[in-house]
Amino acid sequence: MLSRQPEPEYMDLPEEAEAYARADFSEVNQAFVDRLVEWAGPCGRARALDLGTGPADIPMRLLERRPHWRVVGADASLAMLKLALPGIRDRGLSSSLGLVLGDAKRLPLASRSFDVIFSNSILHHISETEDLWLEVKRLARPGAVVLVRDLARPVTAEAARRIVERYAGQESPLLQEEYYRSLLAAYTPDEVRSQLVKAGLGSLHVQMITDRHMDIAGRCS
Ligand SMILES: C[S@@+](CC[C@H](N)C(=O)[O-])C[C@H]1O[C@@H](n2cnc3c(N)ncnc32)[C@H](O)[C@@H]1O
Repeated sequence: MLSRQPEPEYMDLPEEAEAYARADFSEVNQAFVDRLVEWAGPCGRARALDLGTGPADIPMRLLERRPHWRVVGADASLAMLKLALPGIRDRGLSSSLGLVLGDAKRLPLASRSFDVIFSNSILHHISETEDLWLEVKRLARPGAVVLVRDLARPVTAEAARRIVERYAGQESPLLQEEYYRSLLAAYTPDEVRSQLVKAGLGSLHVQMITDRHMDIAGRCS
């Protein structure tokens, strides 16, 4: 079994953030939003939080489907949040999508203030996972919907290379290398299950949804 190889946590180099924002994640991001909307249901005027929002493509897509929701996108990278701003302004979402610069493990946000907490592709960046899960627990209202999607670590380095070739073969060398490092930094479903139990979030379930992604989903008690 391949051991985890952590990668830098925040994506705060401008060239790294720009390469990420330029890449086309439209299909996977839309699939994430479709799953979240299906899972959460209408949820009225829900208050939602996106942990590690990056260029905020996912919350912008979410607000197309759920225009009455209010979303906060949090990221520790100023470079990423700067890239999110023009899209938010151009789509007229400034009053429904707010950005917070901060570490997802200790956000300056009130406890029990979110009905929906979601995140795509942040978990593998984080080594102090207990702090992240405890923050999810603190910020969630009782019964809040949680959907966290992330890569799952392949069994071997060769398997990781094959995944990069298959799914990111057309991307820039920088992005391909980042993808490879992300796969090696990812957790296995069993590791995540242990993290959840330790943080008192045993009501969330971990499930492989593709050959490289897992969903961590459920309701906070
Ligand atoms: C791979 S990107 C994913 C961006 C976005 N969720 C998406 O799917 O397009 C990961 C993002 O998480 C952010 N990040 C990593 N660790 C973080 C932390 N501890 N607190 C807040 N943001 C973090 C990075 O700066 C980066 O913007």
